[in-house]
Amino acid sequence: MAGFELIDDEERHAVDAVMRSTVLFAHGFDGMRNGVFKVREFEQEFAAKMGSPWAQAVSSGTAALLVGLKALGVGPGDEVITQSHTFVATVEAILAAGASPVIAEVDDTLNLDTAALESLITARTRAIIPVHMLGVAADMASIMRIAERHKLAVLEDTAQAVGASFRGRRLGTFGDAAAFSFDHGKALTTGEGGMVLARTEAVYRRARSFHDHGHAYDPSVSRADDPASGFGFNYRMSEIQAAIGIVQLAKLDRGIARQRANKARIKEALSRFNSIRFRRLPDPDGDAGDCLVFMLPDSAATTELAARLAAKGIGTKNLPSAINWHFAGRWDHIVPRMPLYQGRKASELWPRSADWLGRSIALPIMVKMDEAAIGRVVDIVGSELTRMRM
Ligand SMILES: Cc1ncc(COP(=O)(O)O)c(C=O)c1O
Repeated sequence: MAGFELIDDEERHAVDAVMRSTVLFAHGFDGMRNGVFKVREFEQEFAAKMGSPWAQAVSSGTAALLVGLKALGVGPGDEVITQSHTFVATVEAILAAGASPVIAEVDDTLNLDTAALESLITARTRAIIPVHMLGVAADMASIMRIAERHKLAVLEDTAQAVGASFRGRRLGTFGDAAAFSFDHGKALTTGEGGMVLARTEAVYRRARSFHDHGHAYDPSVSRADDPASGFGFNYRMSEIQAAIGIVQLAKLDRGIARQRANKARIKEALSRFNSIRFRRLPDPDGDAGDCLVFMLPDSAATTELAARLAAKGIGTKNLPSAINWHFAGRWDHIVPRMPLYQGRKASELWPRSADWLGRSIALPIMVKMDEAAIGRVVDIVGSELTRMRM
């Protein structure tokens, strides 16, 4: 979980400093702000930490996805491939951009099944959004190879994996652009907030313009005289959010290191149960470590174990607790908006994903788990598995 667990006086002081400056807005008011530009500073520090040349802060992860799609030139008539296991925002953003979502199955990584990817590409495909779910990298080597072969743009949805990496490189730096979320459940939190990373200056400039009513950001004129370079909207981040983000960014790797250590202990202790298998990780070293996912032989056993754990006060993270928001097979409210799936029932569309997800339990891993907390999780999960003769 990281982010909110690490909030202390540092964040409070950073907010206080912005409040005392009285400039809460990222632009203009130059005479009042003493040269302090927190959003700008956060963008630069975030880009440097991730290893990306360009960053644009925005108001949420959902906004980051839409701004990213717009910056990549995605629009009506385009198809965008993403995966069945994601938060609903990924598909909402594709629809909001006017494009048609094409939803791929996930495999035992619970991320995009790259074996199925190429069969979904058509003449209308414009982009792929791999989603790094629950802190774990999608197989970016295969995805980038396929995208390059078919000349498709890649927008990484890195909302759930800020700070994680794949083969030594931070997630969000593989694609043409990436979207991050800093909402309250994320490894780096600003309450609400997000970031777009871009590989090229052209994509960054389009993201910057679209997120701010189409502003051209002409440095030779004041904001009031700045011309519009195109259509846009308001997805700006505030100075307060950015001030918190700068402090949280400095804590990110420490939080991830603790999570990884805590996760390794729990995983090791549960590995004696032969009837469970752990989620396959394309790069175990890069895992953010904020949850431990294992699969049971069938969905009935999974439902039973989740209920038994809940009765003992052990919650789950998304699987199965919030699966309604994280699996396209539950989205009858928006499937009718997707041209490709008109007239179909969501629950019948992604059977392989339904099988993997229906058998998965995700245990949340906290940064601040002491010996007693780790022991409690291991004991309760272990004893319930034993009672179920697993
Ligand atoms: C995979 C994924 N994408 C996008 C988002 C949207 O982020 P936000 O809540 O900041 O709008 C989330 C948030 O949970 C997410 O998990």
